[in-house]
Amino acid sequence: MLSYLHAFHAGNFADVQKHAALTLALSMMQAKPSAIACFDTHAGSAIYDLESERARKTAEADAGVQKLWAGRQGLASGDWQPVIQMLSRLNAGEGRLTVYPGSPVWISRFLRPGDSLTAFELHPNENGQLAGWAPEHGVRVLHEDGLKGLLRRLPPSQPRLLTLIDPSYEIKSEYLDVANTLHKAWQKCRHGVYLVWYPVLTSHLQTALKQAVKDSPLRKVWCSEVHLTTPPERGMTGSGMLVVNPPWGFDDRFSAMIEDIVGEQKLGLSHECSWLIPE
Ligand SMILES: C[S@@+](CC[C@H](N)C(=O)[O-])C[C@H]1O[C@@H](n2cnc3c(N)ncnc32)[C@H](O)[C@@H]1O
Repeated sequence: MLSYLHAFHAGNFADVQKHAALTLALSMMQAKPSAIACFDTHAGSAIYDLESERARKTAEADAGVQKLWAGRQGLASGDWQPVIQMLSRLNAGEGRLTVYPGSPVWISRFLRPGDSLTAFELHPNENGQLAGWAPEHGVRVLHEDGLKGLLRRLPPSQPRLLTLIDPSYEIKSEYLDVANTLHKAWQKCRHGVYLVWYPVLTSHLQTALKQAVKDSPLRKVWCSEVHLTTPPERGMTGSGMLVVNPPWGFDDRFSAMIEDIVGEQKLGLSHECSWLIPE
C-alpha cells in the first residue's frame, strides 16, 4: 500500500539539499565527455504545483525552495546557478515560485546525447503523471519496484553511472533494503556514483541504513546531513545524503553550496558532513 505523495513535500528543505547534490554530481561528472546512464529508483510525478491544495496544506516549500529563491542574489557558490536557472525556466516572473521540478526533471535537463535516464515509480497515479511528462524529455519510465529494477539493469551499457535512490521509507524494512541494494549495485558497477537520500528522524531509524552501509565492503562514501535549527519534537528533524564515489572535489563544492543556505536567517539549518567510509 503506497500512501506517500511527494506533492505534500515538494520543494522542502530536504528537496533543496537532495536536488542540489544531484545537479552538482551530474554537472561534475559531465566535465568528462563519456556517456552516463542515470537511474532514478523512486522518481515521483515529475512536476509539482506549489499552489496546489496538497502543497499549501503543509507549506513545506515556504521554508525550503521559496527561501532559496528569495535569497538567490546572495548565493556565493556558482554551483547554485544551474539550480536557479532551472527554477527560472519553469517559473515565469520574479515573484514566488509556483512550479517545482522533481528529480527526473532535474536529471533530464542535463542529459546530453548518449546519456540516458531510466525512472522507476510504483504508485499508479504518480507513474501515470510521470509517464505523461517523460516522452518529450527522452526519459524511460518503468512501473516497477525501483530497487529490484535497478539491479536488473546493471551494469549499464554506457561507461558511467549515476543513480539516485530516494524512497519514501513508508516501511521500516526499506532502510536495510536500500543498504542491501546499494551493496549489490556496487558489486555490479563499482565505479558508479550513487546518491541515497534518507530522513533524519527522532526515532533514529536511519541509523540502521548508515550502519549497514558502514558494515559493507563499499568504499568512498561521503555523508551530508542538514538539521533543522528549530526541530519538531517528533518526526523528521533533518535530511541526509550518502554519496558513493563522489566526483573529486564534490565534498568541498557541495559544502560551499550548503554553507550558503544554513543559519537562522536563511533556511534554518545546520550542516554536518564527513566521510562515512573513506577511500
Ligand atoms: C520521496 S518520493 C520521490 C521524490 C523524487 N525522487 C524527487 O526527488 O522529486 C518517493 C517516491 O517513491 C515511490 N515509491 C515507493 N515505493 C517504491 C518502489 N518500491 N519502487 C518505485 N517507486 C516507489 C513513491 O510512490 C513516491 O512517489
